[in-house]
Amino acid sequence: MLKVLVCVSGGGTNLQAIIDSIGNRKIKNAKIVRVISNNHNAFALKRAENAGIDAVCVSPKDYPDREAFNDALLSAINEKEPDLIVLAGFLVVLPEKIINEYKNRIINIHPSLIPSFCGKGFYGLKVHEEALKKGVKVTGATVHYVDEGTDTGKIILQKAVNVEEDDTPETLQRRVMEQAEWELLPQAINMIANK
Ligand code: GAR
Repeated sequence: MLKVLVCVSGGGTNLQAIIDSIGNRKIKNAKIVRVISNNHNAFALKRAENAGIDAVCVSPKDYPDREAFNDALLSAINEKEPDLIVLAGFLVVLPEKIINEYKNRIINIHPSLIPSFCGKGFYGLKVHEEALKKGVKVTGATVHYVDEGTDTGKIILQKAVNVEEDDTPETLQRRVMEQAEWELLPQAINMIANK
């Protein structure tokens, strides 16, 4: 049984997709051992609690400096000895210490077709704003391993999604989630759990 730890920052719809996919056995041989949020107000924490999953908040606001926060984050991860860390809308740049300790065991979902609209500063709605500004006709989502760079690790899965004429960043974000993210992230976890 693959022990999965999920890191979140906001609404947690990707977390919900993982919870549901474990429930309906689209993901086999995996369980979520903990959800960590960096944000006390993240609705994702509620989703975890509702599903009876251990959920903790490790917020930079509760620590005197970045190093203390990084240490607390690593401890909260290590306590559960996860086989896989899933960044599901986690808007914290992981410290090198964690990346090194969990090499090839951290995956991230990004709401574009990498290498487009990724890297520093590209997260959440911003990604879709930039895609619309550029006028691309196709965008999508990517699941990739996490390395020291930002969105530079080995790609695991990608799925394309059409951009519509009258899209706003919000409508595009929703379509990318519905048609790509909520499908890809559970699929990637299932692949890793059953390889
Ligand atoms: C998702 O669209 C995810 O791809 C994105 O944040 C959103 C979180 O939504 N992640 C990034 O932009 C990472 N660079 P959620 O909390 O509802 O899953």
